[in-house]
Amino acid sequence: MSESRDIQRLRKEYASRKQRTDDAELYSIFNPAQLFMLQDRERKLLACLREYGLSSLSGQSVLEVGCGRGGALKEYLRYGVLGKDLHGVDLLLDRLQEAHQVLPDLPLVNANGEALPYSNQSFDIIFQYTAFSSILDEQVKCNMAEEMLRVLKPNGKIIWYDFWLNPSNKQTKGIRSGEIKALFPDCKYDFYKITLAPPIARRIVHISWSLAHLLQRIKMLNSHYLVIIHKPIR
Ligand SMILES: C[S@@+](CC[C@H](N)C(=O)[O-])C[C@H]1O[C@@H](n2cnc3c(N)ncnc32)[C@H](O)[C@@H]1O
Repeated sequence: MSESRDIQRLRKEYASRKQRTDDAELYSIFNPAQLFMLQDRERKLLACLREYGLSSLSGQSVLEVGCGRGGALKEYLRYGVLGKDLHGVDLLLDRLQEAHQVLPDLPLVNANGEALPYSNQSFDIIFQYTAFSSILDEQVKCNMAEEMLRVLKPNGKIIWYDFWLNPSNKQTKGIRSGEIKALFPDCKYDFYKITLAPPIARRIVHISWSLAHLLQRIKMLNSHYLVIIHKPIR
């Protein structure tokens, strides 16, 4: 498959991000605002999984589409997924190589999510964290969603965590609930608006963790959707 313009743009964008040293600081877990946002996501996700009767993901086959350097894959190891069952795919080889360095036993593949190298109905859970918002081309997003549904087992779950609004970065595009439903038709969805918008979190968390918690409860100030998408059985 020849690469679309958007995939070429994405490669350039990540190459230029690599040069920006402030990005590393921004997304480091040692940055209190980043820690605040990650912990909030984790609390909410684990509460959801408990509601579905899951208290461990041991025995589940799991794939992350757009796994980058593997930060979120590490979280799923803590949720009990066995290394052999935890797969990751990313378009960018250098990011995947970094993931492989910290997670050498995981099956990681360098591929475009528009053509996932797995057979139909391979996974119980597929997750995507902020990969879709980095894609601007509607067709690329549609192709990726179609592929995710193809390799997901009937009754499987897609765990979606992404911006619904990100006006400050022109290289990303927030995805609203209607678009998510259109990408994954005929499914059932549980939507949660979460995450204190990063520009606010970065200003407030280092002043007061409690104030950040209070502000986070105001839904208007939440920038992301956590969505559990249930593929039907048939
Ligand atoms: C913002 S990063 C998030 C990385 C990771 N999910 C996390 O939360 O740490 C988005 C990732 O999606 C990947 N990505 C974007 N479009 C993709 C595509 N079409 N196929 C595979 N990976 C893609 C990018 O290469 C990048 O590593």
